[in-house]
Amino acid sequence: MYHVRFLKVPYTKTSKISIFKRFESKSNRSAEQITLARSPISRPPANGGYIIHAVVTVTTDLGESFLYGDAQLSVTFLSISKDGKESIVSHQIVDWTCGMQALPIELPVTISDIRRIKKQNAAADEFIIKVDLNQGVRYVDHNHGDAENNDPIRFLPVTSQKFEIRDGFVRYKRDDNGFVVRKVELGNLRLALLEETGNSVNKHLWDSGLLLANYISTSSAAIQKKILSSLIPSIASGKIVRILELGTGCGLVGILFSKLVPNSEVYLSDLESTRDVCERNIALNKDRHGRHGKMRFVTFDWDSSSNTASENAEVYDKDWDLVISCDCTYNPDSFGILTDVMQKVIGQTTKLLLVHKDRHGSEKQIFDMLRDKTKFVCDSEVVLGKKMGISRAHILSKN
Ligand SMILES: C[S@@+](CC[C@H](N)C(=O)[O-])C[C@H]1O[C@@H](n2cnc3c(N)ncnc32)[C@H](O)[C@@H]1O
Repeated sequence: MYHVRFLKVPYTKTSKISIFKRFESKSNRSAEQITLARSPISRPPANGGYIIHAVVTVTTDLGESFLYGDAQLSVTFLSISKDGKESIVSHQIVDWTCGMQALPIELPVTISDIRRIKKQNAAADEFIIKVDLNQGVRYVDHNHGDAENNDPIRFLPVTSQKFEIRDGFVRYKRDDNGFVVRKVELGNLRLALLEETGNSVNKHLWDSGLLLANYISTSSAAIQKKILSSLIPSIASGKIVRILELGTGCGLVGILFSKLVPNSEVYLSDLESTRDVCERNIALNKDRHGRHGKMRFVTFDWDSSSNTASENAEVYDKDWDLVISCDCTYNPDSFGILTDVMQKVIGQTTKLLLVHKDRHGSEKQIFDMLRDKTKFVCDSEVVLGKKMGISRAHILSKN
């Protein structure tokens, strides 16, 4: 999958007046430099405006390669009303060309646009910028070729955090610095997840979790039921279902399962450094009507000697119906501690859902280790997506 990322989240450079001057001189210099196709803003008005800047890139989930081809990105500037309603203020198309690694965006915003939207949308004082593939135009991908029918999600759009424009400056709430929002809209699944803009491993979304979410949420109700009962055979009994996710990161998969299984208790576990982003995502995705299971983040290192006694007890002293590990097998050095944990948390009736993307051959060793150490066997395997690295889901249980 390609992830559209902000290398620099939307920002303004200078105060309102000088921005307007820059804006004037730039737009006079070259109309192509600011691509205004389909934008309602054609010229800066006499009474001032802003330029909002951002820098975006299009990479694989690990960031090891950029989209090598031509594409059009659609940049939409939206206002958010107090009740969360989004209205388009302006829109432009920018060109990503083969060989690019970063694309600066300049989005002119006129005062009259802002006034217009405030009038239409009484309390509009917060804004977001969304960058997505221009869906109407085919893109070229020299590295991976055309999308196939069975690879439906190739582009993950990105949305900035909400910001205000005060005195000509883009301003974020203090806690929002360094995060963007991923709107995951697949089938009938609607999630908004915060993700870090930096290079951390734990505060990002990874392909195999996204493809798993896509696979389940775009399946028909009958297939979804079948998938869930093969993962949780006791689901029909009405008893509380206990689910543990190891290495949850931003929490996408744990949150997904809490929505799929409303009579569940989902423990989303990871290192303490992940708590902030994961707890914020849990809070963001709670349904007002409580149509989901209970969710909580727990600090848990696969290296049990690094945990406190109560952290270990929280995970080891429970009977789990389902244990999930998604994109946690990228580093063979941690297979020893990870399989030790799996051995301890998997009981006679527990299922293990192990999801991964084929990143390198040594990942397969985990299956040999699980078989030898814990007598787990693979009940079934599903290919979730083929392009740009095959992602697979395996259901394992005790022999
Ligand atoms: C590639 S990320 C995958 C995150 C998430 N499951 C997803 O699919 O988006 C791997 C996760 O494993 C976690 N992890 C790595 N080593 C760990 C350890 N020793 N104990 C607990 N979690 C660990 C990282 O913090 C990170 O969140």
